[in-house]
Amino acid sequence: MKKYNVCVLGATGLVGGEMLKILVERNFPYENLTALATSKSAGKIVEVGDLKLTVKDADLETFENMDVALFAGGEIASEEYAKKAVKAGCVVIDNSAFFRMHEDVPLVVPEVNPDDIFKHKGIIANPNCSTIQMVVALKPIYDAVGIKRIVVSTYQSVSGTGKNALKELKNQAKAVLDGKEIEKPVCYPHQIAFNLIPQIGSFGENGYSSEEMKMINETKKIMGDQNIKITATTVRVPTEFGHCESINIETVKPIIAEEVKKLMSNAKGVKLVDNLKESLYPMTLSVAHTDFVEVGRIRKDISCENGIEMWISADNIRKGAALNAVQIAEKLFNL
Ligand SMILES: NC(=O)c1ccc[n+]([C@@H]2O[C@H](COP(=O)([O-])OP(=O)(O)OC[C@H]3O[C@@H](n4cnc5c(N)ncnc54)[C@H](OP(=O)(O)O)[C@@H]3O)[C@@H](O)[C@H]2O)c1
Repeated sequence: MKKYNVCVLGATGLVGGEMLKILVERNFPYENLTALATSKSAGKIVEVGDLKLTVKDADLETFENMDVALFAGGEIASEEYAKKAVKAGCVVIDNSAFFRMHEDVPLVVPEVNPDDIFKHKGIIANPNCSTIQMVVALKPIYDAVGIKRIVVSTYQSVSGTGKNALKELKNQAKAVLDGKEIEKPVCYPHQIAFNLIPQIGSFGENGYSSEEMKMINETKKIMGDQNIKITATTVRVPTEFGHCESINIETVKPIIAEEVKKLMSNAKGVKLVDNLKESLYPMTLSVAHTDFVEVGRIRKDISCENGIEMWISADNIRKGAALNAVQIAEKLFNL
């Protein structure tokens, strides 16, 4: 089997660390696996199972002889290094928002639009975590009966903001439980421990946050349908791993809840968790560190003729980021 030279940029971060783990777990056929981060992390060791990788300074990487680079270093790093990597002949799978809406960059969720991978010109973008889990759940319904309108509200965990935000949540929670003053929040505009914050990213002139606009614009691009009407409210919640979403859709043709359940139980990447009698439904704790988008609470919207309600959950670091990127790499090389 052909082997590939692979690098992960952002290897000391939450997403980059998970990418390394998943590459090893899924036996990705790598010849060399290179871990990159900022100069301040150069020389550190990242451990992936038995593997110990010495982190290198991304700034010194030439990307020569590299087949694929998984980027999880944020927008500034993507802007700085992606073009250089492509010029050296490497394909970049980028987790940041930097290239997602560029016309010549495919935005891919392998369960939804795998063929778009092969339209790449060197860069393939990985969508936003909340968008990924939503389109994985909605694509089978879209294919079966069409979707006119989506109303989504998210409940997004703190790991979505990276490793420093997890530290901030824990420090604040400890301070509150110890009856102490919390330190001035850095990662969010307000205290996140024991709080919900209805702001993810910055607000635009239309009153939507940047995260909400990502969900709207990215969904249309991935589904290849500019006519779906979408509105979103994104909320940060004080959980560690796993994003939840309340999704209401209006379908083009009618569909009953039982039919949606059947579609979900056969859908790629989806796990139907919907047993009201036993109080079984998707939850953050049950999806953390797993690969599936869990879907449940599926019911007819009693206020709307073709309306369906559902509640979904997925691990934002795995399916929402690292796993999706590795799946793209697997498809790219036909593995
Ligand atoms: N967390 C999520 O749920 C999620 C989901 C989807 C997409 N993403 C995206 O994935 C990216 C990484 O997120 P994260 O949560 O893993 O963040 P994180 O935990 O804060 O880690 C950031 C990583 O990027 C590295 N880095 C930062 N600036 C860099 C630069 N200029 N050059 C090279 N490396 C640099 C850091 O290295 P040092 O340790 O040396 O500083 C660290 O390894 C972001 O673009 C984020 O938007 C995250």
